[in-house]
Amino acid sequence: MKKIEIVEVGPRDGFQSVKCAPIPTELKTKIIGELIGAGIKHIEFTSFVSPKAIPQLADAADVTKEVLGKYPNVDLFPLIPNLRGAQNAYNLGLRKACYVVSLSVSHNKANINRTHEQSLEAFKEIRKAYPDMQIIVDLATTFGCPYEGKYRDPERVVKFLKDYKDAGMTILTLCDTIGIADPAQVKEVIKAIQQAYPDVEIMVHFHDTRGLGMANTFAAIDCGITKVQTALGGLGGCPFAPGASGNLSTEDVVWALNEQGYETGIDFEKLLAAAKGQVHSIIGNYSGHQINIKVPVAENK
Ligand code: COA
Ligand code: ZN
Repeated sequence: MKKIEIVEVGPRDGFQSVKCAPIPTELKTKIIGELIGAGIKHIEFTSFVSPKAIPQLADAADVTKEVLGKYPNVDLFPLIPNLRGAQNAYNLGLRKACYVVSLSVSHNKANINRTHEQSLEAFKEIRKAYPDMQIIVDLATTFGCPYEGKYRDPERVVKFLKDYKDAGMTILTLCDTIGIADPAQVKEVIKAIQQAYPDVEIMVHFHDTRGLGMANTFAAIDCGITKVQTALGGLGGCPFAPGASGNLSTEDVVWALNEQGYETGIDFEKLLAAAKGQVHSIIGNYSGHQINIKVPVAENK
């Protein structure tokens, strides 16, 4: 049976987009525990970013202290935007993180206030300062950007990544930050990267803004991708990408994979219970966010 690894990003991409009051740290760690209880083994669980940029994740250190060591068999990693973020994560005992840079110059500026040159320099600094830390390159706006529109040329991605490959990139996440990708484009981009950098492992991260998140995921799987990022309850969205809506929801993807005989290792009922319980309480109490939780089939009988 073909294995697909679900990488849950709700506690980072989801919680960062929740408006109004901050979600209490205990609720965050409770949801992380429920995700793990449902069989999730890989979680992007917070961000070590400026609390001014993302106040919702200002408790990154507290969340880390709470979860690190508690779940020894679970791969827990944060997002970092700069050397300072890497240092904060490393000092707390984390040895893996994803480093975000946008293919779009204007989104890179809006999101992390850096030029492409500065972002590359910071990636090199992090690699040099923490050689024992695994750094995933998260390429935001891979398929298009809120300020520049949709990208049509897959070679643009390949060219951009060359410097990162030369600087030691081994894992890459193709992030469709504004949900603008389509399945044909996904295949083209993945194939171009696979051809240019066959030893780089690729993850995918789709937002469902235009209803194509699921189709894009299966297009990626058709290209041999086995690591898929999703968010519980379909939460998510970059505060610096106007109009960005939620991620493709974990429960929808797990259901679709399980139904088709893929091995995910995730208990759908437990996952759904986590989404319906805790995430709904977040939606109700802390945000005006749209949520997309499907009624399980069993309840419709
Ligand atoms: N963690 C915590 N605080 C940080 C930090 C980090 N990794 N990096 C910088 N800061 C603090 C600085 O100390 C400074 O604080 P001060 O104003 O109290 O002195 C402030 O943030 C600004 O620092 P500066 O280096 O001037 O950065 P900036 O204003 O150019 O912002 C980033 C750059 C990267 C720090 C900021 O844009 C950011 O955190 N972006 C993250 C965006 C994000 O997560 N988007 C969603 C994911 S795609
Ligand atoms: Zn995202």
